[in-house]
Amino acid sequence: MPTNATTAPAVRASKGSGSPLVMVTAYDAPGARIADEAGVDIILVGDSVAMVVLGYEDTLQVTVDDMAHHVAAVARPKPRPLIVGDLPWMSYHVSVEDTVRNAATLVRAGAQAVKLEGGRKRVDMVKAIIDAEMPVMGHIGLTPQSIHALGGFKVQGKQAAAAAALVDDAVALAEAGCFAVVLEAVPDGVARAVTEAIPVPTIGIGAGPWCDGQVLVFHDLLGLEERKAPKFVRRYASLGADASAAVEAFAADVRAGRFPADAESYHLKDEVAASLWSAAQPGPAADAPQAISVGSGGGGPTEGARRSR
Ligand code: KIV
Repeated sequence: MPTNATTAPAVRASKGSGSPLVMVTAYDAPGARIADEAGVDIILVGDSVAMVVLGYEDTLQVTVDDMAHHVAAVARPKPRPLIVGDLPWMSYHVSVEDTVRNAATLVRAGAQAVKLEGGRKRVDMVKAIIDAEMPVMGHIGLTPQSIHALGGFKVQGKQAAAAAALVDDAVALAEAGCFAVVLEAVPDGVARAVTEAIPVPTIGIGAGPWCDGQVLVFHDLLGLEERKAPKFVRRYASLGADASAAVEAFAADVRAGRFPADAESYHLKDEVAASLWSAAQPGPAADAPQAISVGSGGGGPTEGARRSR
């Protein structure tokens, strides 16, 4: 991808370039900055926010307002990658009008494209959103918003008929105008067949190496998430363990009186400290200087004064 390729048409045109697309999820401004600095092509503000940030057991709990809140946080630092906002469950299932309005809410919050789950049965909604000038990314295979209908987080398309249905779904989404299609948790052979069947990029997660791009969930790849990861997750860091160790060290420093140090504290000028302490002491003013540090570091309380508080 060229460095300025942050638009949906540019992502669409990258098919066949030989340069795999890189997408990561992000849910807030620091995540967006990290993804931007790392040079990814696409940031997906995924409804996975429900599980990895908000603590829910599935993605069904988040609303359009929740998603708009997170899209806006990602958009605020104006990252270079394309920002795709995930349409949550029930935001594109009721009516075409509802669907277009919900997609517009995410675009007004800062998304430059939206993603929705499902194949042929979503074609009318995809066309309506695109008619309203908003690019759409498809998502087939394991679609987490269908967890109850699918009977759990399971690999999809393992049998011949299901695999062929996935190819048909992808073709329908591409024909409806999707600029890219996510393939989640499907056998690599299915992903290869889909990738060869459609003229727009496929972006895989648990879909093997034949896709036009790959996506991972930010918290999974950074090791921030303690839940048992699916086998397709590669952890590139252990930030969760590093963060726990850092907070533990902070707690130990506070409890041992090692934090904050003199250099981490603000200090009064000596004369201000002296007048403050003499005003505050019930006894004779002459007692005050004993409790005041007059060293070069400024006029803070001495170790003795601190301990006596
Ligand atoms: O919500 C999400 O993070 C996703 C990715 C798994 C593709 O949809």
